[in-house]
Amino acid sequence: MDTMIERINALKKEKNAMIIAHLYQKAEVQDIADFVGDSFELSKKAKENDAETIVFCGVHFMAESAKILSPHKKVLLPRSDAGCPMADMVSEKEVKLLREKYPDAAIVCYVNSSAEVKALSDICCTSSNAVKVVESLPHKQIVFIPDENLGNYVAKQVKDKEIIPFKGYCITHKLVTREEVIRIKNEFPEAELLVHPECTEEVLGEADFAGSTAQIINYVKHSNKDTFIIGTEEGILHKLHNENPGKTFYLASPKLICMNMKKTSLEAVLDALENETTEIVLEDEVRERAYLSLNRMLEV
Ligand code: 13P
Ligand code: SF4
Repeated sequence: MDTMIERINALKKEKNAMIIAHLYQKAEVQDIADFVGDSFELSKKAKENDAETIVFCGVHFMAESAKILSPHKKVLLPRSDAGCPMADMVSEKEVKLLREKYPDAAIVCYVNSSAEVKALSDICCTSSNAVKVVESLPHKQIVFIPDENLGNYVAKQVKDKEIIPFKGYCITHKLVTREEVIRIKNEFPEAELLVHPECTEEVLGEADFAGSTAQIINYVKHSNKDTFIIGTEEGILHKLHNENPGKTFYLASPKLICMNMKKTSLEAVLDALENETTEIVLEDEVRERAYLSLNRMLEV
């Protein structure tokens, strides 16, 4: 293990590479990363760094976003098969049809989407800024793709706009049920329930706080409570435990594991650095148009 970490660190230096990882990654992958964060922080980090190569430990749309924002860098996704089923739920054709059906609406696209879909949208958002992004738009009507739960969550906060959510969903967060969270809340009545807005509306209705992974971490850091039930992917527990040794965390459901996020291993990271696999390559036109949507989000 140590030799593998030493080789990763040596290659990183040699190739002027930076390893960035999402908070759902395996603990050992988070530990070797130069930066760990939520989708919004990772997009910003991909844009603002001096590395020549970015090794992206996450899923495909995240590495693609890094390439869109840093076209001159080599962006490597250690496991080319690490995708996000939600991102695959909306196609270019469907976005074009939505545009025709709602000509006056803005199309707001969650970053969990392909570069082609971003290119056809007006602006991107992440779970940490979706409300702010929608509020920033002059449009009264918003088509929100692809996550229905996040779309409904935004609609609850932004009352003066009509939000039309697409029917996509996260296959992991969707598995958490209201009954399950009620049971665990009854078991630990002193605990606060913190969930990701990709959870269903019924689960969100039971929560004390909803936010992106980084917002959940920030909430715990500033809370004077010491017991929490966490309604998002289990990888987040690594940082929560490290940063809050005196606090107790329970996962809202044992089903909160994203198999795609868990594909990346230290071996895969080493292989990516040694063999420069798998490089993200995008068509210029798609990349340039997707850049506009992502960059508008970063400017909000
Ligand atoms: P955030 O890290 O932005 O909260 O997103 C979670 C997620 O599901 C990424 O796929
Ligand atoms: Fe996609 Fe859900 Fe996994 Fe996030 S947790 S990458 S939304 S499947």
